[in-house]
Amino acid sequence: MTTMRGHWYIACRSAQLQRRPLARIVLGEPLVLFRMQDGRVGALADRCVHRNMALSRGTITADGLACAYHGWTYDSSGACIKVPAACNGCTTNGGQPRVRSYLVCEKQGVVWIYLPGDSEIPEGEPLDFPFHGHARWQYWFMERVFEGDAFNCAENFLDCPHTNHVHQGLFRTDKTRENQVEITSGRDWVQAEFLNEQRMDTLLGRILCPKGARMRHTDRFTLPYTTRVDYRAHEGRHFIVMSQCTPIDEYHTRVFTYMAFRFDGWAPLIRLLYRPFAHRVLDQDVDIIRQQTEDIRRYGPQRFMFHTSDAIAGEMRSLLSGQSLEGQSPRIKEIRF
Ligand code: FES
Ligand SMILES: [Fe+2]
Repeated sequence: MTTMRGHWYIACRSAQLQRRPLARIVLGEPLVLFRMQDGRVGALADRCVHRNMALSRGTITADGLACAYHGWTYDSSGACIKVPAACNGCTTNGGQPRVRSYLVCEKQGVVWIYLPGDSEIPEGEPLDFPFHGHARWQYWFMERVFEGDAFNCAENFLDCPHTNHVHQGLFRTDKTRENQVEITSGRDWVQAEFLNEQRMDTLLGRILCPKGARMRHTDRFTLPYTTRVDYRAHEGRHFIVMSQCTPIDEYHTRVFTYMAFRFDGWAPLIRLLYRPFAHRVLDQDVDIIRQQTEDIRRYGPQRFMFHTSDAIAGEMRSLLSGQSLEGQSPRIKEIRF
């Protein structure tokens, strides 16, 4: 699989950038994020060029981010704009001091950063979270560090058969039935639509889907590691779970999950019930992925077998290895869950 550079990733939530700098690792790169006193956000390599202190140990001043050791201060472009001990005529052994800076985009309460790949310039803007800010919608973000690689996390978020096992009783039961799934795809995405999804026999199933209503269920994967699940009974009853996976390293992934729903009439009450449920489901996934990763690491490199019931996992692997799925005609699979 390619390194998946050349994409936008969520580094943190806006609310996490207060008076102190924040250390984050994205795709193995140690970064520091900070909010300047004028409100702008900077993202720099987390290493002072002077004696290599992590800048995330520093402080935010009126000038920028000041290193904790000798106070060299950097602005959001990475330029060192102040060396407190400098006199006129001071020199360095390497030209003008500067650390690497990264493009940042802050919107909808999260901070995205662009890690350049072949191109220093991103192809477009980071994605938008649907219905964020809409008056009739309830939404919030959850953030977890999974002990697992970003593929295993993304696959889990779109994998239906595990829900009968890992989330038994909470989300689905052990009663399974056959589902027809239509798979469609494009250059950087693949989607499964479940054509005969029926009401689940759990409390959540009854909340999600009114009796007798047909529920539209779609699962979608978009490069680099974004997943989106929709359950929609009708316009006024619609649940979305969208996760953006930010790889930390080979075995760790920071996952930002956007939960949004519309439930006309009862939304605040449903939120009270749904929120703890969503956290519980996420905890179960964190736990199963941790165990999977422990076992993968114990027994050597991944050697996965792909089966029809894995729905779009094979297509996700193809996209991640750089293959476009544009021009493939829609196809039908049958899966029991
Ligand atoms: S190590 Fe950063 S100022 Fe000296
Ligand atoms: Fe799950």
